[in-house]
Amino acid sequence: MADVFIKPQIGGGGGIVIDDDWPGYSLDLFSYPAHYSGDLDCVVVPHGVIVDRTERLARNIMDDLGDHDIVVLCVLKGGYQFCVDLVDKIKALSRNSNRTLPMRVHFIRLKSYLNDQSTEDLHIVGAEDLSFLAGKNVLIVEAIVGTGKTMNALLKHVESFSPKLIKVAGLLVKRVPHNSTCLPDYVGFEIPDRFVVGYALDYNEYFRDLNHICVISESGKTKYKI
Ligand code: HPA
Ligand code: MG
Repeated sequence: MADVFIKPQIGGGGGIVIDDDWPGYSLDLFSYPAHYSGDLDCVVVPHGVIVDRTERLARNIMDDLGDHDIVVLCVLKGGYQFCVDLVDKIKALSRNSNRTLPMRVHFIRLKSYLNDQSTEDLHIVGAEDLSFLAGKNVLIVEAIVGTGKTMNALLKHVESFSPKLIKVAGLLVKRVPHNSTCLPDYVGFEIPDRFVVGYALDYNEYFRDLNHICVISESGKTKYKI
């Protein structure tokens, strides 16, 4: 099966690779909300590392797209924190380089997960009329890409409004069996196939208020199961 997984690309376009056998950081090494004690196994990506990696992604995006105004399409809810931090870093870079980069930020909402399982039906909410995307450079900002099914459906939807260019920034790419060949253009981290929460990623709406990206524990899954 291994050959259907994404090939690791350390330091390359695939992002920072976190190996399957890496146990993560002990929770005792960081602070996190007390109401989640017992609900998590380990820290996969500490908050500071997320922010530092996001700063570099912002620079790559500026290098590629910095000459034209862009429409940022933030995929809610999981993408909100990454989007806020990424847009902030892009703004800081354009300020510091005395360039002006007009940005519009638009939000669309997708929902496809119940508990830790992907449901078949993908709902796109708030994306009824994206006709203002016509002829624009669009940056889709998504927290996590797994099989790529969600991303492909969204790409098709966005393409139907005839933008000039579409780029995708994904904070996390999960190495799942049957990853689609369609990967984000900008990847923060490539992670093992485990259910992660934090930094706006949820499990049944919980854990969005956790700063680090962590692996949820079995007891955490049970506690918040619907
Ligand atoms: N965590 C939270 N939401 C998700 C995940 C995950 O690992 N994969 C897809 N949606
Ligand atoms: Mg979710």
